[in-house]
Amino acid sequence: MLKKKNKYVVAVVGATGAVGEEMIATLEQREFPVEELRLFASGRSEGRTLTFKDAEIPVRTLSANAFKGVDIGLFSAGGERSKIWAPVAAKSGCVVIDNSSHWRMDPGVPLVVPEVNPQDLKWHKGIIANPSCSTIQMVVVLKPVHDAAKIKRVVVTTFQSVSGTGRKAMEELMQQTSDLLNFRQVQTNVYPHQIAFNCLPHIDQFLENGYTREEMKMVNETKKIMGDDSIRLTATTVRVPVFRCHSESLNIETEKKITADEVRAVLSAAPGIVVYDAPEKNIYPLAVDVVDKDETYVGRIREDESIEKGINMWIVADNLRRGAALNAVQIAEKLVETV
Ligand SMILES: NC(=O)c1ccc[n+]([C@@H]2O[C@H](COP(=O)([O-])OP(=O)(O)OC[C@H]3O[C@@H](n4cnc5c(N)ncnc54)[C@H](OP(=O)(O)O)[C@@H]3O)[C@@H](O)[C@H]2O)c1
Repeated sequence: MLKKKNKYVVAVVGATGAVGEEMIATLEQREFPVEELRLFASGRSEGRTLTFKDAEIPVRTLSANAFKGVDIGLFSAGGERSKIWAPVAAKSGCVVIDNSSHWRMDPGVPLVVPEVNPQDLKWHKGIIANPSCSTIQMVVVLKPVHDAAKIKRVVVTTFQSVSGTGRKAMEELMQQTSDLLNFRQVQTNVYPHQIAFNCLPHIDQFLENGYTREEMKMVNETKKIMGDDSIRLTATTVRVPVFRCHSESLNIETEKKITADEVRAVLSAAPGIVVYDAPEKNIYPLAVDVVDKDETYVGRIREDESIEKGINMWIVADNLRRGAALNAVQIAEKLVETV
């Protein structure tokens, strides 16, 4: 378990990936007290170095002793690596903050968004899970509304950027866009269909109930983070040809009546949220404006006129930062604050 120190040995597993690189930048920007940074990726990255605070740090491959002396491990190398290596790291005394979906629904592993359920950090046993990017930005907004008016049901539709799939998907969108503009045939490798100039109502695998895994992650993770199984949620997740930032349309039905102005006031006072809502001036959150921002941006707040107690809104956050790296680093900050 973590011991109080002035500075900590931190490992980033999946350091060369879209999330890993953002984690390194976030540690540096937020001046996390790093004694030594160890970087890990696959054999493909052997020989590479990455920059942290003007130093070039070699990228290494994982091994049985990789976590010796490591205090905190930020994992973002996919579920299979987390399944195998998170327990190895935890056994050697490293606290793992895992970005993959592998441990999220394990009842022995807390699933934490620091603005929503920091109290769950207390019961970790060496592994803490970061929720999916689409869930994180949503629960930050749901929590204050739930506290004010008790949420009965949420209908969410997502518009998720390709960086949510990782580096190869960003390259695919770039390549397909360039090919189409140059009258060349497009190739599809990462997604089952062309993503450039298209929308795919399909994120992760389809399940027997007709939903995708991404949609069911939003349902199940929300209940676990909010600690309330009574919230009903239904999701449609869509991949759109945007490089960075996920947008989401939320329809929220509450038990108690709450007006649009009251929602604006509640959200303005809550941590991790920027209310950006002046439609008469064409002001509402946009993916291109929210890149690199820490907060979830909320706009188009209005009452749902088709039901008695309902609110609609549009929320946008940077999936690599708010939805992954920042959440992990905030968890690390909370951990070192409380040891
Ligand atoms: N992208 C997002 O918005 C987001 C948000 C939340 C959570 N996540 C989760 O974070 C994880 C990484 O996502 P990403 O978007 O960063 O993917 P990515 O860009 O494809 O990066 C994957 C990383 O994993 C490393 N890796 C692959 N196989 C490995 C192995 N055998 N041993 C060690 N490292 C290995 C890769 O190293 P090489 O470069 O050497 O191949 C790379 O550093 C996934 O579990 C994803 O579900 C992603």
